[in-house]
Amino acid sequence: MLIRNAGDLTENDVTPEPIYRRRREFMTGIAATGILAACSAPTEAAAAPLKAAPWPYSTPEPKTSFKDITSYNNFYEFGVDKDDPARNAGGLKTRPWTVKVDGHCAKPGTYNLEDVLKGHALQERIYRLRCVEGWSMVIPWIGIPLADILKRYQPTAKAKFVAFETLNRPSEMPGQRRAVLEWPYREGLRLDEAMHPLTLMAVGLYGQTLLNQNGAPMRLVVPWKYGFKSIKSIVRISFTETQPRTAWQVSAPQEYGFYSNVNPTVDHPRWSQATERRIGEFKRRKTLMFNGYNSVASLYRGMDLKKFY
Ligand code: MTE
Repeated sequence: MLIRNAGDLTENDVTPEPIYRRRREFMTGIAATGILAACSAPTEAAAAPLKAAPWPYSTPEPKTSFKDITSYNNFYEFGVDKDDPARNAGGLKTRPWTVKVDGHCAKPGTYNLEDVLKGHALQERIYRLRCVEGWSMVIPWIGIPLADILKRYQPTAKAKFVAFETLNRPSEMPGQRRAVLEWPYREGLRLDEAMHPLTLMAVGLYGQTLLNQNGAPMRLVVPWKYGFKSIKSIVRISFTETQPRTAWQVSAPQEYGFYSNVNPTVDHPRWSQATERRIGEFKRRKTLMFNGYNSVASLYRGMDLKKFY
C-alpha cells in the first residue's frame, strides 16, 4: 500500500484522509479486482475486468456501443484514420509503465503505474465526449479524479498549470514515424481545471481496463473540453508556472487554443461548432456550452471565451 521507492513518501503523504477512510472500499475495489493485477499481467493487449463504484452524477443518456468506442478513435500515434488505432495499437506494450512527475511539486520522481494508482478508489462515470471534429459519444469511463492523483505529489504555490505527455515510442507507435504532429503528443490544463472534480484520469471503460486504442494504461478525460485535451497513454505529468505548449496549438495555432472548451458560439475556422453528430444517431443535435457541464463556468468567470478559445 505504501510508496517508498520514489520521493520517500510516507503513508500520510500518499493517503489523503477521505481515501484513507475509504480503504475498505478500496480493498474491495481497485486492489481486489483488477487494475493492480492487470498492471502486472503478462499480456497487455487483453483487457482485465475492473470493479468501480457508480458515480451519482453520470449522464442518463444511452451509452455509445463498446464496438464504436473501441473502433472509432483518434490516436494519431497509430495513424490518422478512425480505424487505424484499433488495427495498429495491439503492439504497444503497456507493462511495465512508468510516469515521470516533475516541475513545481514537493514529490517529483519516476513512479511505477502501480504506485500512481495504488490507494485510489475507482469510480464509473458516464460522460459525454465531444470531439472537435463534430461528433460525440457517451462513454462509461472507469477512473480516479485527477485531483486525487495530483495532490499526492504536492504541487507548490508556483504550480499554475499541469502539462501531460504521451509515450514517444515509434517502434510500437507506427504513426510517430510520420511528422503529422510534433511528438510526443502534449496537452495541458490550468491547475484549477486539472483539480476540478469532473476531471478524471481514466484506466478503463465498460467495466474493463482500457484497450490500447483508447489510451491504455492511463488517459485523461476532461468532459467539458474538446476530446483532444483528453490525452492518452500518459508518461509524464509536469507542474509548470507558465502555460505549456500543446500538440495541437503547435501544429495549427490559428485553429486550436489552449482552453478548447466546448463552445457552440465559437466556430472552428473551417467549420461550425454549433451542432454535433452523436455516434450511432443520424440527426445532428445542438452542441451545449461546456458540453453541458455547466458547473465549470465559474472557472472562466471574467474571461472572454471568444478570445480564450
Ligand atoms: N491522445 C494522443 N496521445 N494522441 C491523439 O491523437 N487524440 C485526441 C484525444 N487524445 C489523441 C489523444 C482526440 S482528437 C480525441 S477526440 C480523443 O483522444 C479520442 O478518444 P477516444 O478515441 O478514446 O474516443
